Amino acid sequence: MNVCFVTSECAPFAKTGGLADVSASLPIVLSQKGVRVKLIMPLYSSISVLDFGFVQAVELSQTVISMGHETIPIDVWYGHLPHSDVEVYLIDCPRFYHRGSIYTGDPDEADRFILLQHAAFVIMQRYDFSPDIIHSNDWQTALMPAMLKYHYNWDKLFSTTRTVLSIHNLAYQGLTDPDFAFRAGLPRELADKGGLFEFSGALSFLKTGIMTADRLSTVSPTYAREIQSESFGEGLDGLLRMRSGCLRGILNGIDTDVWNPSTDPHIPNHFSAQDLSGKALCRLSLAKEMGLKLEKGDPLMGIVSRFASQKGFDLLVSVFRDLMRFSNLRFAILGSGDPYFEAFFHQMSSEYPGRVAVHKGMNEGLAHRIEAASDMFLMPSYYEPCGLNQMYSLRYGTIPIVHKTGGLADTVFDADEFPELGTGFSFWNATPDVLKDTIFRAMDWLEDRKQWKAIQSRGMNTDFSWAKSADEYIEMYSSAQKEAC
Ligand code: ADP
Ligand code: GLC
Repeated sequence: MNVCFVTSECAPFAKTGGLADVSASLPIVLSQKGVRVKLIMPLYSSISVLDFGFVQAVELSQTVISMGHETIPIDVWYGHLPHSDVEVYLIDCPRFYHRGSIYTGDPDEADRFILLQHAAFVIMQRYDFSPDIIHSNDWQTALMPAMLKYHYNWDKLFSTTRTVLSIHNLAYQGLTDPDFAFRAGLPRELADKGGLFEFSGALSFLKTGIMTADRLSTVSPTYAREIQSESFGEGLDGLLRMRSGCLRGILNGIDTDVWNPSTDPHIPNHFSAQDLSGKALCRLSLAKEMGLKLEKGDPLMGIVSRFASQKGFDLLVSVFRDLMRFSNLRFAILGSGDPYFEAFFHQMSSEYPGRVAVHKGMNEGLAHRIEAASDMFLMPSYYEPCGLNQMYSLRYGTIPIVHKTGGLADTVFDADEFPELGTGFSFWNATPDVLKDTIFRAMDWLEDRKQWKAIQSRGMNTDFSWAKSADEYIEMYSSAQKEAC
């Protein structure tokens, strides 16, 4: 089976969040299972092509992409996902991709990703690669199913191609001026009021994908149900209900080689469910690295996150000082995003020196060291399509405290609710007091080291690899090939 996997980010080349991890790991497992995957993404200026062994695809040098009335030349760099057969094509267009960040609020943001999608079709044409499936991810590549139907349908290369759109986050929809439809080769009128691609007076990339893809998936079974409700549907729940026969929730896996406490090169001491002694050493060295004063028995809470409103940190703000006053809790925090949260956490680190350590920015190594060293890991997200960090935590014997939503609900089982199965602590009502109570509840459990170890060991022994989920993707690809839904 041939799959063209198109994405706006992929680790280790370019990453802002979990989509990059999924793009880096799912295609590799698919290819191990016999699927031939070509992955296509932009060449952002932050990617050092030579370090990753890419070479310029000279045969595609200065390939011209037509976008509406304009033609834009691109170069293409060719390489592989590290240690794999997955072929990667980077679209080199400095005009669009040499910016300060992967995503921008610039007026041509829609154009940047329309170019990517046209380029993906053109690369397949140039290589005579007939994909059984085009797999789009999130709004940035969600026009491809419609572009196939309306713009590239003349090409026999794609006559048996079916399309899949994976929704990693329904809240980001790519709303843009309806005029951009023309640049994507789509009928302008479908982006007008009442049209198939229109939402709120704009061309919606995501709605277009939802209405035209042969199959839809999202990244956990619970989120697949949630987005069909008004409260999580971001205005698209009616359409998702309409297409529910084509929609499935497939839980993300994780890369169990990259996130393996017995071999992780980012952490100073290795450990396993059988021997946790290295974890205690990781804790001591993180305290040193981040400037925390940690006595034996002081509970350490880790946070590694984008600071976006989705992540629920405003629940923590109003109870933070109570937590500090009535416990010995320590925080190791890594993240960036909303300046309000950046400022708040910075303020807490000044108010509680030695107890709250904050590092602003993206730092892959530190993310691993926080996972390895912490007792608990906090994810109070209002919604979480899947979430990866709770699974990384479980693998590192770090007990997640989560709001019961989306993938968090599917992967973390509350120790009080399921005494024999519990792997963490979770709460239904996303309010500051409930969050505070849950953190205190977890700290009570932490006092009983034997019980805590049992919780740790259940999490560490859970299989979060991609094996099963990759089979579900293959099954979805096959069913898209066989029949309409
Ligand atoms: P989302 O994609 O919504 O941000 P996920 O939990 O799916 O949430 O994935 C987030 C990914 O980004 C994880 O791999 C996490 O470790 C990583 N990450 C988030 N913030 C940082 C940071 N500041 N430094 C390093 N890695 C980070
Ligand atoms: C999104 C979601 C996150 C999910 C990730 C990868 O960024 O917010 O929950 O894990 O995509 O699918």
